[in-house]
Amino acid sequence: MDFEYTQEQLAVQEAARDFATTQLLPGVIERDIAAAFPKSLIRQMGEMGFLGMMSSPEYGGGGMDTISYVLAMEEISKIDASAGVIMSVNNSLVCWGIEKYGNEQQKQQYLIPLASGKSLGAFALSEPEAGSDATSQKTTATDMGDHYLLNGTKNWITNGNAADIYLVMAQTDKSKAHRGISVFIVEKGWPGFEVGKKEDKMGIRASDTHSLMFSNVKVPKENLIGEVGFGFKFAMETLNGGRIGIAAQALGIASGAFERSLQYAKERFTFGKPIAEHQAIQFKLADMDTEIEMARLLCMKAAKTKDIGKDYSKWSAMAKLYASKVAMETTTEAVQIHGGYGYVREYHVERMMRDAKITQIYEGTSEIQKIVISRSFLR
Ligand code: CAA
Repeated sequence: MDFEYTQEQLAVQEAARDFATTQLLPGVIERDIAAAFPKSLIRQMGEMGFLGMMSSPEYGGGGMDTISYVLAMEEISKIDASAGVIMSVNNSLVCWGIEKYGNEQQKQQYLIPLASGKSLGAFALSEPEAGSDATSQKTTATDMGDHYLLNGTKNWITNGNAADIYLVMAQTDKSKAHRGISVFIVEKGWPGFEVGKKEDKMGIRASDTHSLMFSNVKVPKENLIGEVGFGFKFAMETLNGGRIGIAAQALGIASGAFERSLQYAKERFTFGKPIAEHQAIQFKLADMDTEIEMARLLCMKAAKTKDIGKDYSKWSAMAKLYASKVAMETTTEAVQIHGGYGYVREYHVERMMRDAKITQIYEGTSEIQKIVISRSFLR
């Protein structure tokens, strides 16, 4: 395996790092407190190409590989994990899904604005009673001849209010279980479509998470992606890639917490010397660094496997499972190294610890990742 990044990949990493430290860092604490969506910053990220990194240039994207995407996601999430998830959903779930399975008309109409950062997308799979058990969807799309009528409620939708374009999974034939689920492109503002309550979250507070309500929403037939009944497979395939994005987000949270801890350990004195010179702290930092490198290797393995066109579902599940565990453990240790300072907002690591938790929950909980991994060798 080649462990060297190309000049192009390093340039992407550098651009993301520069944007994160100069633009995202100022105000990150305030946005967390206020749960304020970073609208103008996301627009800037779109202009810089961070919202459609892997989409083809002919559809407004950057035409980059998944390794570059992981490098950029890590740098953005190191500073602001909320910006990280907004970016991940648009890139991996929405743009990728439309490019891979949409028709030419759908790509022209929806992918170009999404990949070029002019629109923002959301992915609506989860429901109040269908999270991990994604097949138990209650939202329905009834065939009315020239259009579908969409009815139901979606929950926990990232970019729920900020998005312009939504990929919505719904039952078109309940008798066929998961093979009766289809996927539609729905635009904000269509009659009967309402954005519901904003969730008051523990972490990633600057990303907006909402419920969505559909009441007799008329969806044109041309907004069906793929065949009728393809929606569940579509969701699983897009989530395979989405999990690489979330793994990279978790990696970024962990490496951000490590960098802050290392800096603090060099500056903070106890018993007459910097705490970095105490073995208790050195061992913590050594464990953090080692675990982060392990998580990075899995993220890159998943990214590379996707880039060379092989089945990466197991690798993306492993990367997410491991990186999210490392994010949780590293941020907890980062707070411990900072002591009382770690418990207050000013030092950032308490936010990182809160942000880390969701990476073990969304886009498939850690338990779901273990199901995906075990099916790869038991099937
Ligand atoms: N990749 C490709 N196909 C897959 C797949 C995968 N990872 N997992 C399942 N499938 C396919 C199966 O091959 C099967 O296909 P066939 O019909 O051709 O046989 C079909 O999907 C059904 O599979 P199962 O019988 O295994 O289905 P199941 O009901 O047992 O569930 C599951 C499988 C893996 C548990 C799945 O329900 C799952 O992944 N659940 C988690 C859902 C999830 O990740 N939700 C996240 C919400 S989105 C989000 O968080 C975004 C955000 O806003 C940040």
